[in-house]
Amino acid sequence: MLKLTLYICIYVLIILVWKIVIRFKQNMKGTMRYLAGIAGQSGYGSKSTAEQVTQDSSSSLPPHLTAIVTGATSGIGAETARVLAKRGVRIVIPARDLRKAAQVKENIRRENPKAEIVILEIDLSSFASIRKFCTEFLSLEIPLNILINNAGKFSQKLEFSEDKFEMTFATNYLGHFLLTELLLEKMIDTATQTGVQGRIVNVSSVIHGWVKKDHFSFNQMLQPKYYNATRAYAQSKLANIMHANELARQLKARDANVTINAVHPGIVKTGIIRDHKGVITDSLFFVASKLLKSTSQGASTTCYVALNSKTTGVSGRYFADCNESRCSALANDDSEAHKLWKHTRALIHKRLRA
Ligand SMILES: NC(=O)c1ccc[n+]([C@@H]2O[C@H](COP(=O)([O-])OP(=O)(O)OC[C@H]3O[C@@H](n4cnc5c(N)ncnc54)[C@H](OP(=O)(O)O)[C@@H]3O)[C@@H](O)[C@H]2O)c1
Ligand SMILES: *[C@@H]1O[C@H](CO)[C@@H](O)[C@H](O)[C@H]1NC(C)=O
Ligand SMILES: *[C@@H]1O[C@H](CO)[C@@H](O)[C@H](O)[C@H]1NC(C)=O
Ligand SMILES: *[C@@H]1O[C@H](CO)[C@@H](O)[C@H](O)[C@H]1NC(C)=O
Ligand SMILES: *[C@@H]1O[C@H](CO)[C@@H](O)[C@H](O)[C@H]1NC(C)=O
Repeated sequence: MLKLTLYICIYVLIILVWKIVIRFKQNMKGTMRYLAGIAGQSGYGSKSTAEQVTQDSSSSLPPHLTAIVTGATSGIGAETARVLAKRGVRIVIPARDLRKAAQVKENIRRENPKAEIVILEIDLSSFASIRKFCTEFLSLEIPLNILINNAGKFSQKLEFSEDKFEMTFATNYLGHFLLTELLLEKMIDTATQTGVQGRIVNVSSVIHGWVKKDHFSFNQMLQPKYYNATRAYAQSKLANIMHANELARQLKARDANVTINAVHPGIVKTGIIRDHKGVITDSLFFVASKLLKSTSQGASTTCYVALNSKTTGVSGRYFADCNESRCSALANDDSEAHKLWKHTRALIHKRLRA
């Protein structure tokens, strides 16, 4: 009896793992390539680490680059900040938990005593806090070359932000929308003055592909009637890609030397996933741990797009495993993206005036 139960459990686990693999990697060929870590056109693959993809950049980088990395207090963001600092980039960490940020700063400085790290307070779920952060940052009068929109939230329950919007959507999408908007002129000015291309990286997720068009209603995302945490997360990540595409078009039209791209970091066991406690997820992770990326592998696509010379001039694209990749049809829909951008801008500006 016990043996039978064990067999059934193993069988179910294998099926589950397989389903995940299929879902995330979409096809067999992709799965094999992912597992083997075979490199794409860039010369890097799923097993490449953030240090590896920035190695050749360390000598060729223009001096005195400055990057803002949101969500750098843990997981993929902390590793991204560490590696960029190692390559000589000055890092600004916007954080809601200043103690955690100080710890990250100390870790980076221990490895690299000359690293320049600036910590400023922000809560990305609050428009007022984002505005305050931007005012403080702009008053420092330092350049801004790189903006990494990495912070992410997966809200298990239906919660509302200070501005009364659903928390996952408010943090992952609305907050980063406002942050990017308030910093954009600074980035364009820096690029003009220094002749060095500015780069914006939006950390999205492959999960964006789960969203169907009839579930992409702006008002429902702001204040959902029926809350489904996975769906809310996927919607916010889809909105991230659409926003990146729309902004890429606007930047091109303005002839600004600033690129914007979206990335899927891979599936990494960080805080976001650790929040899902439970026997099933734990045992799944135990079995699936071979399929998961290390944090440094998870930070590699972000760092590749932020720093590597191979991505100079590339904008409005979507990357996974350090290689350009395809996003869902909905994510590629230009008119939906423009509509979303218009709605978001109108909403935020109405709130800020009130
Ligand atoms: N892990 C994965 O498998 C995976 C897969 C696909 C995409 N992603 C994306 O990768 C990015 C990084 O995720 P991660 O896995 O590294 O997650 P993580 O370890 O949970 O880190 C999330 C970061 O976001 C910050 N954050 C959350 N809400 C915030 C708020 N209101 N204001 C300011 N900061 C806030 C957190 O700050 P605190 O330290 O204060 O909590 C933390 O630094 C996210 O955008 C996520 O959606 C991750
Ligand atoms: C890399 O991207 C190209 C173009 O999108 C694609 O043809 C190729 O299969 C990708 N390679 C990997 C390893 O994903
Ligand atoms: C992505 O990029 C746009 C800039 O086009 C920004 O406004 C948007 O909110 C960003 N969101 C994220 C985290 O992807
Ligand atoms: C734009 O950025 C690229 C890459 O840094 C640089 O080579 C180029 O000269 C810049 N163009 C302008 C017009 O500043
Ligand atoms: C929540 O949404 C996800 C993704 O769209 C879906 O797979 C899942 O079945 C939904 N869960 C419920 C309880 O409706």
